[in-house]
Amino acid sequence: MKIVLRIGGSILGSPPDGAVMASYATVVEKALKEGHKIAIVVGGGSVARQYIEAARKMGLEHRDQDLVAIAASRVNAKLVGMKLGFPDVPTTIGTTLSRVARDHVVVMGGLRPGITTDTVATLVAEAWRSDLMVKASNQEGIYTADPRVHKRAQLLPKVSYPMLVAILGGDYTPGLHSIIDPVAVGRIAKNRIKLTVVNGSNPENVLLAIQGDIVGSTVG
Ligand code: UTP
Repeated sequence: MKIVLRIGGSILGSPPDGAVMASYATVVEKALKEGHKIAIVVGGGSVARQYIEAARKMGLEHRDQDLVAIAASRVNAKLVGMKLGFPDVPTTIGTTLSRVARDHVVVMGGLRPGITTDTVATLVAEAWRSDLMVKASNQEGIYTADPRVHKRAQLLPKVSYPMLVAILGGDYTPGLHSIIDPVAVGRIAKNRIKLTVVNGSNPENVLLAIQGDIVGSTVG
């Protein structure tokens, strides 16, 4: 299968945890051995948010805040890529597609200001016509409402595209914290991208999602 793996920055730890990154490399190697091709998109996590805050305090504009966050995500991507033996982090979708065609694996971070790496992963999934996108997040999956705010929110094992838009759609705001950003949600629904959201604190959940086991939330 052609798989886009989106590793949420929030599960990489604060400060970034090398053990977590190494365990993702191990999981990816297992999936490659099973014959899958994998395009990985890594988020900036806490480091990106610290740099956004520093840039904001310096009076720098949104675009510059985003640019430092993108740089941070690319460092995270490089670390994972180094462990896999593919340390060059592409900065365009075109390069990502040619690398994954050649090497069967590629690791990228952010792409351009004004989006998040959820949207980057969605753009890769669209251009590559992936079979599955997996988001390794810091929640069990998609809930009826934000479980950090609503104690009675329920985990949804299956989510239709209209449900996804109803729960997580809306407008982009910079630095937004959501399980999947609203711009990505709109694209996923419009292009009917198959997506599974899992709890990424256990990287093995990614393998379960790839194998089609019932884990987290499946959209499609
Ligand atoms: P990320 O997409 O790196 O977040 O965006 P994350 O750390 O993985 O977060 P979770 O785990 O999904 O919650 C962080 C910020 O980086 C900028 C945006 O400001 C975004 O809010 N960014 C990221 C861009 O501007 N462009 C990109 O292509 C990626």
